[in-house]
Amino acid sequence: MEKHTGTGRGDRIPYRHDGIYIKSEDEIAAMRRAGRIVAGIIRKLCAHVAPGIRTRELDVIAVKELKEAGAVSSFKGYHGYPATICVSVNDEVVHGIPGERILREGDIVTIDFGAIYDGFHGDAAVTVPVGRVNDLALRLIEATRGALETAIATARAGARLGDIAAAIESYAHARGFSVIREYTGHGIGRQMHEDPQIPNCTEPPYGLKPGTGPLLKKGMTLAIEPMLTTGGWRTRVGADNWTVSTLDGSLAAHFEHTIAIDDTMPEVLTEGTYA
Ligand code: MF3
Ligand code: CO
Repeated sequence: MEKHTGTGRGDRIPYRHDGIYIKSEDEIAAMRRAGRIVAGIIRKLCAHVAPGIRTRELDVIAVKELKEAGAVSSFKGYHGYPATICVSVNDEVVHGIPGERILREGDIVTIDFGAIYDGFHGDAAVTVPVGRVNDLALRLIEATRGALETAIATARAGARLGDIAAAIESYAHARGFSVIREYTGHGIGRQMHEDPQIPNCTEPPYGLKPGTGPLLKKGMTLAIEPMLTTGGWRTRVGADNWTVSTLDGSLAAHFEHTIAIDDTMPEVLTEGTYA
């Protein structure tokens, strides 16, 4: 986990609670701008998803849109990541590298994208169908989006991190789907990945039981990102050293939003990635 290197806006020394940065109103305003850019670009990319398009073409569009927005990719160069977006198809869960693969009718595709604007990151992801897809794939997509929305509704000041994890897990299990255990959401701000890690499950070693983990405070900014599968929770990393796929070949979906914790419902800083 990176150390906070920014000087803060003004002369403010960043305030931390339980090791988690609390953003000022000004900082949240900056993150709102980053989030808006991310949401707009993801929406545009989704509009281009159709049978016949190459995943690399989506990356090219993202590069152009980012430049027009005056923003910079959060992902490109991150631990050597070679592209601007992640595109993960069918059994691929996260971190798929855009390339020559052509999307086909019946596929489901996850677009994950982050941008830095005025020193702050926004990060979001959606899974969408390519043309007509089967009923199981549609139900998986709906359940993953629903799990994110349930997690967001749980994420208010006074709740604990484990409450978010438990909400995601029980929502997924009630619909017959599994939750990926080894990848988590994260705090976000001047760094794409800040503390805390935000698990999507309650199982050890990474999970958190309800009522446990750090207390959520107004001003925390979090990227929540449930990943669900139609099969098991185990994953493998591909030969490119990035692409994470389900071990059993089952389908995976992934939704992510960057949010700001408040006393009542959190603010979704990347609102508008899907209708
Ligand atoms: N949304 C993902 C995350 O938060 C994307 C990171 S991809 C990487 O971890 F290439 F930047 F690593
Ligand atoms: Co993320």
